[in-house]
Amino acid sequence: MTLSKKDILEMGSLSVEEIQVILKTAETLKEISTRPIKKVPTLRGKTIIHFFYEPSTRTRTSFEIAAKRLSADTVSISASTSSIVKGETLVDTAKNLEAMNPDAIVVRHRAAGAPHLLARLVEASVINAGDGMHAHPTQGLLDMMTVREKKGRIAGLRIAIMGDIAHSRVARSNIVGFTKMGAKVILAGPPTMIPMGVEALGANVTYHVEEAIKDADVIMVLRIQKERQQAFLFPSEREYAQCYGLTRERMAGAKEDVLIMHPGPINRGVEIAPEVAEGPYSVILEQVANGVAIRMALLYLLLGGPR
Ligand code: CP
Repeated sequence: MTLSKKDILEMGSLSVEEIQVILKTAETLKEISTRPIKKVPTLRGKTIIHFFYEPSTRTRTSFEIAAKRLSADTVSISASTSSIVKGETLVDTAKNLEAMNPDAIVVRHRAAGAPHLLARLVEASVINAGDGMHAHPTQGLLDMMTVREKKGRIAGLRIAIMGDIAHSRVARSNIVGFTKMGAKVILAGPPTMIPMGVEALGANVTYHVEEAIKDADVIMVLRIQKERQQAFLFPSEREYAQCYGLTRERMAGAKEDVLIMHPGPINRGVEIAPEVAEGPYSVILEQVANGVAIRMALLYLLLGGPR
């Protein structure tokens, strides 16, 4: 199996069939990470550059591990240790990276659309590891994998996404992805954090989190992204937790087999109570484990055969 595309830039450009191929491939490749020797020769001789302009723990590490488990050679660059600090532009950086003939460039950038620009400039496959507030397609795919693994399906489920929707690239990728795969998405949070017109992506909106929690098969809690907020969007973290946080008390109104998800990093005690994040319904660390499998699948499908 291969994907007949050069780049992975956003969920909207993946068809239902392509998403199914990616999920199925990830489910097959996941077993490699449980072996005593966690390595196969599939991408031997391929070179992958991980280019992170923004901080990352999960995405960066799991891409590196995924590439290494497939035997690819990897190089990591961060903004602070590259010539970007000397003023080099993204375009010049891309042209110089391309001159070294990599097979794939994984990029995270604070500007929406940066991976799309890079993809137009280079022959290598470009994978978007998060661009500004726009898209985080590999997070959306690993979230879908986790739901499918736990629930056996995606179509027909009710997915509640709670929190700072306005600043979340994860929310955008998940609204588009889950809706495309036949789930119903409900967004919940304070009005200041839910963008006007977001219903156009196919989601319903409520400002009462209890309403979203009540019928949800999956509750995905999003981080309050203080670093992207230009103004105070809520009075205090304590009040946010009281009015909109996923607490043990609010969990009493949830379904008995609900899944609790969070893309990380977590603001403990703000958008989610620690006992809920670590409770019996939480699959947060399983999301992280599936991140390796999804990124292995994408690298394999993009680089493992003739394009
Ligand atoms: N979920 C996610 O993108 O986490 P990182 O910012 O740590 O990569």
